[in-house]
Order: sequence, then C-alpha cells, then structure tokens
Amino acid sequence: MIKLNENFFKFPGGYLFAEMGKRSAAYQAEHPDKEIISLGIGDVTLPLAKPVTDAMQKAVAEMAAKETFHGYGNVRGYEWLRKAVLDGDYVPYGVHFDLDEIFMNDGSKTDCGNIIELFGNELTIAVCEPTYPVYVDANVMAGKAGDYHAETGQWDHVLYLPCRAESDFAPVVPGENDPVPDLIYLCYPNNPTGAMISKELLQQWVDYARAHGSVILYDGAYVGFIDTPGAPHTIYECEGAKECAIELRSFSKTAGFTGVRLGYTIVPKELVIGGKSLNAMWFRRQRTKCNGISYITQRGGEAVYTPEGRKETAAQIAYYRNNCAVIRREMEALGYTVYGGKDAPYVWVKLPAGETSWQYFDRLLADANVIGAPGSGFGPSGEGYFRFTGFNTLEKTEEALERIRKKM
Ligand code: MLT
Repeated sequence: MIKLNENFFKFPGGYLFAEMGKRSAAYQAEHPDKEIISLGIGDVTLPLAKPVTDAMQKAVAEMAAKETFHGYGNVRGYEWLRKAVLDGDYVPYGVHFDLDEIFMNDGSKTDCGNIIELFGNELTIAVCEPTYPVYVDANVMAGKAGDYHAETGQWDHVLYLPCRAESDFAPVVPGENDPVPDLIYLCYPNNPTGAMISKELLQQWVDYARAHGSVILYDGAYVGFIDTPGAPHTIYECEGAKECAIELRSFSKTAGFTGVRLGYTIVPKELVIGGKSLNAMWFRRQRTKCNGISYITQRGGEAVYTPEGRKETAAQIAYYRNNCAVIRREMEALGYTVYGGKDAPYVWVKLPAGETSWQYFDRLLADANVIGAPGSGFGPSGEGYFRFTGFNTLEKTEEALERIRKKM
C-alpha cells in the first residue's frame, strides 16, 4: 500500500473555518426556515469596484481576439502590475524594490503555505498566540511542526508568543535565554485580535531576526485597514528588514478579491542565508510549480491602483470599518469588553466566564442564528474570546447585533 503523508493524521481537529461551516450547515439543514447571518469567516460582501470589473471585461475581450490574446505570462506577474504594486504599496512609505523581488500569486494564503518549502525540516517556528491557523497547519502538513500535545494544545517545534490583552496583544521579543525561533510569523494588522503593531516593536523584531539569523514571514493581508497614524504599512519600513523578512500581501481584503484570487509575495534580494539567495530559490520554485496568474485577474489588480480604483476600494474599506464600529459599539453597550476593529476588520470580544468559545458559538448559532469565530480556534489562549468580522453588509451586521441583544 502506498505510504501517505502521516502528518495529516496528527491534527487534533479539522480546519477552523471548515468546522464553523460544518456546524452552521448542520443547523441550517435542521432549521431550513432560519436565516443565518455570518460575522464569521472574513469574506467580503461588496461587489468589486467598477474600474476593476471594467478592466477585467476589457481583458476578456482582448483574450477573445487573435491580435490581443495572451498565452503564458511572466512567472512573477506582468511587469505593469508589479510596477503598480511597487508605486502604490511601497514607494509612498519610502520603500523601493527591483521588480523581480515581487512575485504575484493567487492570494497570500497560497504562498503562506508554499513559502516554507524554502526551509528545512529541523526548524523552530514562532507564531503569535492566538494566531491565524494556517501558519501552524501548513507547517504540520509539511512535517515541520513536530508532534501535537493534547494537554497543552501545542506542537513540539512551535514557539508560542503570547499576545494578551494586558500587553495590547503585542508579541514580546524573546529574551537572551529564551529559545531562538528560525521562522517567525507576524501578522499586522492582526488576525484574529484586530491589534496593530508599533513601528518600534516591529523594528525590535527585525533587529532580533537579524541578530539571530531568523526569517520573519510578515503577513500584511489587512494593511488597507490601518488607521493608527504612524503605524507601519510594511515591514520594510524597518531598517534592515530586507535582510530578514518576506512579506505576504493580498488583494482579498483591501480590494474585495476573495473570489478573484490575487496577492503577492516580496522576497528581497538582500535575503541571503549561508550564501544562498532566497529570491533565487523562490524564483526557481515558482518557475517549476507556477505559471503565473491569469491575465484577466492581473488587469483587474492593476485597476485597483488607478485613481478611481483607489477611491472606490477606499470607500469599501471605510464601509467595512464602519461595520466594525457598529459591532464594537453594540457589544460594548451589552457589557462586553471589546478589542480591535479599528486597524483591522476583526473585533475581538472577551466572553463572560463560564462558557467556552465553542459553546458560545453553538449558542449564538442556535439562539441568534448568528455566526462568529470561536477564539480557541486560533490557539489555546484565544479561549474566552470570540471574533466578529466587519465584512458583512451594514444591514446584516446591524440585524445580527440586534439579535445578539435580544437573545444572548
Ligand atoms: C479569516 O476569516 O480569518 C480569513 O478570511 C481567512 C482567510 O483569509 O483565509
């Protein structure tokens, strides 16, 4: 019999968002007359901005004509899109790259899982705790996380950086006598807590990584939501970050591309380990395993950076941010302590004692027909918290909060 990848059988449970979907579908099947409102997975609800759909329609027409048809594109993405990314997302923050340091992809989640192919198996991986589950799960599948310990809810090769309310959910840099992580996952604005990191703390992490030969994987999927003045919009605002950090970015949450799929990964040429260029390794990997992103999608992405595209996507973000303000206001009025929702599309709510976050999930689903994300799904110290997203419509968000007020 063929040998399977045994790492898949080490998981204590399913993927968080799949489990939420499963419970919701089971409830819906039993109660077909009920309308469930989801403030759970961070999926957008507003249609794509018009400049984006116009550009995509034009690209479809080009693909239909012999003279303007496109076959394989550049593995890294078309230069005009990478130039738009550089000029739109980095130059305003004083950051410059060569275009071949930018690799377009089909959404940051894909590379979040793929990028670890660059690293060996004997790694120590640091994640914030609570954390977006993909960072740990991808390493488990790749055999890099070691074994799972049910008593602690932790994996052997993973170092958990506690992010608690007392310290504004910020990860403290390890001390001199603490174990040194090789790979460090940081996500800011943060999923799930909605917290933002200060430039000073991010610089401390960069200094630490450079001093210890660690690599930071910086997930900036929610950068469009940053509201705090002076907060870093890219890790490369920090001195020396190009020597130690890979940045992952997505169009999903900033331009509503969850159903289109577009993102990019920055692998700087200065990132060299033991004389080996990670940029060259990643290019080698991409040439073998990826043929780039569709021309139509990339034209849609380019339109995000036009003045009209920027205006419309900024309005979408403002709309979702207002939903977060509604969730914050209403939950606070009900006596909950709430965090986040200002620099990120996630509101992180402290639950009253006496109920686990999955119990709260089930009760919220059954009594209010509303879905959120249970904090423990993001790691053991997420227990006692619950995450709501601002990505539904204003009407549904208000109705969900009204139901919570009446039923919970
Ligand atoms: C979330 O809800 O955390 C995100 O939507 C998940 C994702 O982007 O994959």
